Amino acid sequence: MTHPWQYDESVQIGTDYRDENEVREYDERMQCLRDVAKEAAGIAEAIAIEPGFTVWEIGTGTGECALHLSRTCKKVIASDVSPVMLAYARRKAEERGVENVEFALGGFLSGFQPETQVDAIVSQLALHHLPDFWKARALDNIAQKLRKGGRFYLRDVVFPSQTPDFDAYFEALIAGIRKQGGDDFAEKTIRHIKSEFSTLDWILEGMLNRAGLRLLRKDCSGFLMAYVCER
Ligand SMILES: C[S@@+](CC[C@H](N)C(=O)[O-])C[C@H]1O[C@@H](n2cnc3c(N)ncnc32)[C@H](O)[C@@H]1O
Repeated sequence: MTHPWQYDESVQIGTDYRDENEVREYDERMQCLRDVAKEAAGIAEAIAIEPGFTVWEIGTGTGECALHLSRTCKKVIASDVSPVMLAYARRKAEERGVENVEFALGGFLSGFQPETQVDAIVSQLALHHLPDFWKARALDNIAQKLRKGGRFYLRDVVFPSQTPDFDAYFEALIAGIRKQGGDDFAEKTIRHIKSEFSTLDWILEGMLNRAGLRLLRKDCSGFLMAYVCER
């Protein structure tokens, strides 16, 4: 049942991932900036993936991580709120002959939800699309859909609460991104800080804990935090 107060996940904040040009540009930029094959290998290790596992990736985007993870497990369910992202990811899967990734339209809170509990859940760079109250709801949902002992891997832009001066921190961050990724990426980062919902580390860690997702490990790389949790 959908309540009138339910957060509308289909409305994109920041970059509009329902726009085909944005999606293609995002994929090309990520291919330059990231080594997703290496990321996926690290995630597979962190969530202790086994060949029989069903893994749910939420906010799969162009599907790169899901496609790499699919080599290590029985099935990946890759969901996203953007039909354009999903079409792009599906095309990639077909081109690569990958048959054990199921793509589904849905978000952290609504649309597709697994019928039975899954062995592991992964989400990268997507949870910050929700305001904090809805992040907490999303993490409760994740805990319900994850089998006991299953692991949740979360990586996202999270702001470090120990930062003495956030103005100086953001200035340095944007300057670094401008140098490494160019003006357009720097402008997107400014928009992220200004209008998306990245939160502070202690808030997110409190939410994980309250959802019953016990923190096993956390890694910080610049403004990106990676959390490995166990239900
Ligand atoms: C920055 S992209 C990250 C994509 C991919 N996970 C990656 O690491 O490259 C954010 C993705 O989250 C999706 N998204 C936004 N809000 C969402 C929600 N509420 N639930 C699930 N996915 C969402 C967007 O459509 C987009 O594909």
